[in-house]
Amino acid sequence: MHEISMTVNGSVVQASVEPRTHLADFLRDDLLLTGTHLGCEQGVCGACTILVDGRPVRSCLTFACGCDGADIRTIEGLNDDPLMKQIQNAFCENHGLQCGYCTPGMLATAYDIVRRLPDIDDQQVRKELSGNLCRCTGYAGIVAAIRQVLDSGPENASVTPITRESTRFSELPKIEKKNPITEITVQGHPESLDISPEEITGVNLDKEVILELSNEKLWEIISDLPTVASCIPGMSLESVGDDGSVIGRLTIAVGPIKASFSGKGIVNFNPANTSGQLYGAGTDRLTRSKILASLSFNIEHFEENCSKLSLHVIYDIRGPLSQFGRKALVEEIADSLLKDITRSIVAKASGTEHKIPENRSFKVLPFMGTVLKSLIMRLFRQKKF
Ligand code: FES
Ligand code: FES
Repeated sequence: MHEISMTVNGSVVQASVEPRTHLADFLRDDLLLTGTHLGCEQGVCGACTILVDGRPVRSCLTFACGCDGADIRTIEGLNDDPLMKQIQNAFCENHGLQCGYCTPGMLATAYDIVRRLPDIDDQQVRKELSGNLCRCTGYAGIVAAIRQVLDSGPENASVTPITRESTRFSELPKIEKKNPITEITVQGHPESLDISPEEITGVNLDKEVILELSNEKLWEIISDLPTVASCIPGMSLESVGDDGSVIGRLTIAVGPIKASFSGKGIVNFNPANTSGQLYGAGTDRLTRSKILASLSFNIEHFEENCSKLSLHVIYDIRGPLSQFGRKALVEEIADSLLKDITRSIVAKASGTEHKIPENRSFKVLPFMGTVLKSLIMRLFRQKKF
């Protein structure tokens, strides 16, 4: 992983990224700046063009690491720019867009053309635009829009080219193949666990499950965090501290929905009565949803060579995914997860493996389809052009 710090649309962003992460993927997946479009992903179509240090750059070919210290401007960061406003109006008036897929990249290139070459003719405009492909408009409207801006006199641009010392690729670290988690801290939104279990309130869920294992064997597995984590579908642990703190990620795929909560937790074990508690907080970066949860568990002798595992969960989901926090749905997901977890634990105790399914289907999916649709519509409405 490589530490980088850059300015994106006027805000300082610090992140830890893999050296091979492209700038477009970093902007879209980690910062959720999806106004930067990806078409060919090989430098041909120009859909991913953004401004780096004031110059147009193909973000699908640029490494995020190479932009350490850079000033990045995506289409979202040019909303209040007088020149970009003028160009966008001209695109609308001259029918310079249809589906709009090429448009963010086209606008970034147009912004560069009118600022850099105020005296060019239409032939030269077409030549300068040749790195941006549009499958809809036939280019006539786009050229006319740029012509209109040039003829009426371009407004002042808030972004101008600057020179900076860029990171030399020879200085970059070797690619680490492990650790797939990209940790990112956007200034002003640090992740921290500053809650106590008593502060977690929300929906309560109680579950009991009987396992064909002795108390001692079940406790041995459950009190070993890496082992029990490997029995939980979608769970990956990044670190386990001596003080019981854990950092990890839980990915849940349900039908068309995939949520990946990264976060921190604290685990307390009480061997005297084979019980314990885990509480923590996590964030799903794609939807910016947060979850606060606590899990108390207790192991009791049930019958000969069997144990009863009792779980009490309190959870509070905030943000767009809160719509999926309804008790009936979570209960169904919990039942399905528990089945796999208990099978995995029993398999682990006998030295075998239980294959965990990657996705699950539920009776409530038709309902979720409607909710998903409204969630997507909301996310798109938040994106300003
Ligand atoms: S996506 Fe970058 S040039 Fe096509
Ligand atoms: S407007 Fe559709 S690709 Fe250009």
